[in-house]
Amino acid sequence: MKTVGVFDSGVGGLSVLRALLAELPGTRFVYAADSAHAPYGERTAQDVSARTHRITAQLREQHGIDALVVACNTATAHAIDDLRKAYPEMPIVGVEPALKPAAALSRSGGIGVLATRGTLQSARFAQLRDRLVATAPRPLQFSCQPCDGLAAAIERHDLPTIEALGTRYVQALLQSPHGSPPIDTLVLGCTHYPFAAELLGRLCGPDVTLVDTGVPVARRTREVLGLPVHSGAPAVPPVLLSSGQPSALADAARRWLGLGVQARALAA
Ligand code: DGL
Repeated sequence: MKTVGVFDSGVGGLSVLRALLAELPGTRFVYAADSAHAPYGERTAQDVSARTHRITAQLREQHGIDALVVACNTATAHAIDDLRKAYPEMPIVGVEPALKPAAALSRSGGIGVLATRGTLQSARFAQLRDRLVATAPRPLQFSCQPCDGLAAAIERHDLPTIEALGTRYVQALLQSPHGSPPIDTLVLGCTHYPFAAELLGRLCGPDVTLVDTGVPVARRTREVLGLPVHSGAPAVPPVLLSSGQPSALADAARRWLGLGVQARALAA
């Protein structure tokens, strides 16, 4: 049986773990939440990279992972290239804002992107966006909104703050400058945001389609591991680790994934 590490700044990567459990039921997942250092989106690139390396080393040494899913857009943006150099023999799957699927879906060409400040300011994000704009068969306009505080509020399950920040950021995004195409597709470019999707979808209205990356990342992980589409294997309960409060991670996994699993401390 393969052991796959799944890592995020906190509870957001559970949105990716949910898709991984559905796609690869016979795989053993070890989920690491760096909640003591969340949010990553407002930390420096160097800081995020150092935390990512530290947690990967621990998952490798203490949990014997065969592969890693970096279930965090911010950590992927700042650290995945170096991580692949440090572990050339280990498959590493990252998460990037779903700009390409959004471009394929959008009819108006107006695409909103909600993500952390760190992701939106990264060179990796700029390359992805510019490449798509340059090669698209028709004009595309990406409107990007940094969402300071939103991942942290989702981390705390602080519903009034989620509602207030979600409203502020969606309103800012939907006020397209005069002459730009109306936004009909919204990219959830942070793995925490699918847990606010119901609210964000309601704020955007029925004409806007929300896109996230959980399912495509799970498929990609299955391909990278060379596993068949439906193994029919019985589900293996994941191991949950947190550098913050393990009980908060276990509560989030119960609330959002229906998992009845205890979490342990991650000493990284
Ligand atoms: N969930 C993470 C992401 O996908 C990071 C959120 C944060 O810690 O700021 O970007």
